[in-house]
Amino acid sequence: MQTGTDQDQILIIDLGSQFTQLIARRVRESGVYCEIVPCTVTTDVIRSFQPKAIILSGGPASVHEDASPTVSPAIFEMGLPILGICYGQQLMCQMLGGNVSVSLEREFGRAFVDVSKVCQLFQGVWESGQRHQVWMSHGDKVDNLPSGFEVVAKTDSAPYAAIADESRRFYGVQFHPEVVHTPDGAALLKNFTHAIAGCSGEWNMASFLETSIQAVREQVGDKRVICGVSGGVDSSVVAALLHKAIGEQLTCIFVDTGLLRMNEGQQVREMFESSFHIPLIYVDASMLFMNRLSGTSDPEEKRKIIGETFIEVFEQEAQNVGGADFLAQGTLYPDVIESVSFHGGPSATIKSHHNVGGLPERMNLQLVEPVRELFKDEVRALGIELGMPNDMVWRHPFPGPGLAIRIPGEITEEKVEILQKADAIYIEEIRNAGLYDAIWQAFVVLLPVKTVGVMGDSRTYEYVCALRAVTATDGMTADFFHYDYEFLGRVSNRIINEVKGINRVTYDITSKPPGTIEWE
Ligand code: XMP
Repeated sequence: MQTGTDQDQILIIDLGSQFTQLIARRVRESGVYCEIVPCTVTTDVIRSFQPKAIILSGGPASVHEDASPTVSPAIFEMGLPILGICYGQQLMCQMLGGNVSVSLEREFGRAFVDVSKVCQLFQGVWESGQRHQVWMSHGDKVDNLPSGFEVVAKTDSAPYAAIADESRRFYGVQFHPEVVHTPDGAALLKNFTHAIAGCSGEWNMASFLETSIQAVREQVGDKRVICGVSGGVDSSVVAALLHKAIGEQLTCIFVDTGLLRMNEGQQVREMFESSFHIPLIYVDASMLFMNRLSGTSDPEEKRKIIGETFIEVFEQEAQNVGGADFLAQGTLYPDVIESVSFHGGPSATIKSHHNVGGLPERMNLQLVEPVRELFKDEVRALGIELGMPNDMVWRHPFPGPGLAIRIPGEITEEKVEILQKADAIYIEEIRNAGLYDAIWQAFVVLLPVKTVGVMGDSRTYEYVCALRAVTATDGMTADFFHYDYEFLGRVSNRIINEVKGINRVTYDITSKPPGTIEWE
């Protein structure tokens, strides 16, 4: 948590909604920094954060259930503007002396509110007498207001769809302004953060960069930092930011596992050395990884070998450069939020990065995590701010264990080479077709199956590969990408003609769930 800063910031208290992160996204898009905290947060912690206002999120519980999430009553005495959304509205009403009625039926989906009064929340967006689309997802509803509140909008089934106590600057909405299905929702939230809470809306990636450079300098002092880079967006942004903040106190280490995409090792080196002028220790450990993986087919066993070998190589290199006091990591905000037990209270354990898990403790290093308050697309915007090329910043995610989990069964050098060639052709065709940015992740999987084919006059007996492409927003769920057949035919022809070792191409049309994005 960023405490005691000069910037305008909003605190979002999480009451269990699946949309809490979306509230944060909308608030930040309005140029206001915000953080999410569990509902067990104390008023002391809130005070140290110095928020300009508080938002109470929605949540699936009923205020009438035993042990339903609640907040400290003292937050209503802090003199801060408060916006309660859905469950947050119900909780605020109940705690301030109103009443919430239990409903066995849920209202879910599109609804229309009739605006009865223009309060500050609606100013310049909604006018009295107008009807507007909103998105509802609730069971219980408020049926008696605490004193000081009045109704400002209602729907046919929710007479208290929006309420306001303008003198205390308390607002409540039954609907969800944070979802896109409430078309004016972002504008209403902006009214709350700007007009009501008085935030200036000056938070952006340029100001974030400035603040975090200062923070890194303060944290690190004159000590040394090591940073493992993989060529992925997160670690590259972290490295570029640290380099800007502490220059030569930073040492970047790039371990080439031999399981990267075609020419990737070279590209990463060029990007760091030529474009960023950041010295990079490049370690070609491909033979070591290949030897260790030899004879192993089990996916989890492969991950384990790769993870352990990575740590070993990284540790050795770090010692070779004379040791360091800090390890930089590209932890993102969703990892930070996920690792906090929101209803049981805050927990100190933060998920460690897939590839360097356990490393900080082992090497007795402290962590530097300059992007731990950012969402993925904010990291991308920061990358652009740092002058990174667009195609680097918008690269598809690539798993730590690399091509090893795209070759089901045993891995050999020959298979890695075949896969790299096929994958490069596939990605080139996707880029040529202008589809790269519409796809979350696309790659080829080399199957441990050989089939018979015919090329020219001869019989072939070679591997099958599967093309994979999915759309997703966070990788937790995914749908297969709907290519046209002509595109698939073109890719198939090129792979079979140009890659010796593959004579059959298939397309994977499994969504997640029930499948996963990777095959292993
Ligand atoms: P799955 O296959 O679980 O993938 O649907 C979801 C996202 O996570 C990536 N992934 C990994 N990333 N180490 C990583 O760093 C791993 O072991 C790993 N397994 C999957 C995958 O590429 C996708 O973006």
